[in-house]
Amino acid sequence: MERAALVTGGSSGIGLAIARALGHDGYRLTVAARRPDKLEVAAQGLRDEGLDVLSVAANMAREEDIKKVAEAHRERFGRLDVLVNNAGIGIGGPVAETETKRLDLQLDVNLRAVYLLARECIPMLKDAGAQHGKALIANMASITGKRGQGWLAAYSATKFGVVGLSQALHMELSTDGIQVTALCPGFVATAMTDWIEGQVPKGEMIQPEDVAEAVRFVLRTSRHCVVPEIQLIRPGESEV
Ligand SMILES: NC(=O)c1ccc[n+]([C@@H]2O[C@H](COP(=O)([O-])OP(=O)(O)OC[C@H]3O[C@@H](n4cnc5c(N)ncnc54)[C@H](OP(=O)(O)O)[C@@H]3O)[C@@H](O)[C@H]2O)c1
Repeated sequence: MERAALVTGGSSGIGLAIARALGHDGYRLTVAARRPDKLEVAAQGLRDEGLDVLSVAANMAREEDIKKVAEAHRERFGRLDVLVNNAGIGIGGPVAETETKRLDLQLDVNLRAVYLLARECIPMLKDAGAQHGKALIANMASITGKRGQGWLAAYSATKFGVVGLSQALHMELSTDGIQVTALCPGFVATAMTDWIEGQVPKGEMIQPEDVAEAVRFVLRTSRHCVVPEIQLIRPGESEV
């Protein structure tokens, strides 16, 4: 059966690894991200691997761009089986010194966009769910969405929000054949963790492909098995 997936933040790091894994598992792909040049390089790389890829440059802080992504995907593929809400931004710093615009940007990209894109995609996901009972929304939270993290307060709060939103979406959608999974990794070796590289080498972090395997696992379980949340942590860290 033909399948299609939409991955936000698909131009690098975790999103690109998930897109690649889904593409090689037979999904036709839409990848969306903010910077068009970087996105196009990533999308072309996936096409060079033989994958069918639509790229849509979009700023997830803007509602009109979010609608554009869902519509472009629908026009090209006509169906959506897997939505990966992965685009995100983390801005460190103490609460006492954080400008409002930095708080707002993280709320908009990390949380509001997840809600809005899910809303826009629910009709397509319901059609897929009615067909095979295993449509999926995978929302990228973080281990900081399970345990509040100082100097990342806004980021942490948005990721707690993603976990809660995922639970709520599960309650609304699971009987329509749409499952919802919140992914909660610790440090993953991507550009986002460059700042901590001096203390935690990239080779000792979770790899983007590990997170992609978590999505694959969820999709391989039966329609009667919901995986609401996956924590991915490093040796020596405690689960939450
Ligand atoms: N790395 C970690 O340790 C870690 C741990 C837990 C959770 N996460 C989460 O994993 C997700 C992916 O992050 P990553 O680690 O893979 O970092 P990354 O390589 O920097 O990827 C971030 C992706 O999100 C896109 N993005 C950022 N702001 C956007 C915006 N306003 N509109 C549209 N796209 C935007 C980026 O595109 P541009 O480059 O064009 O902006 C890029 O494709 C994020 O939600 C992050 O919070 C990461």
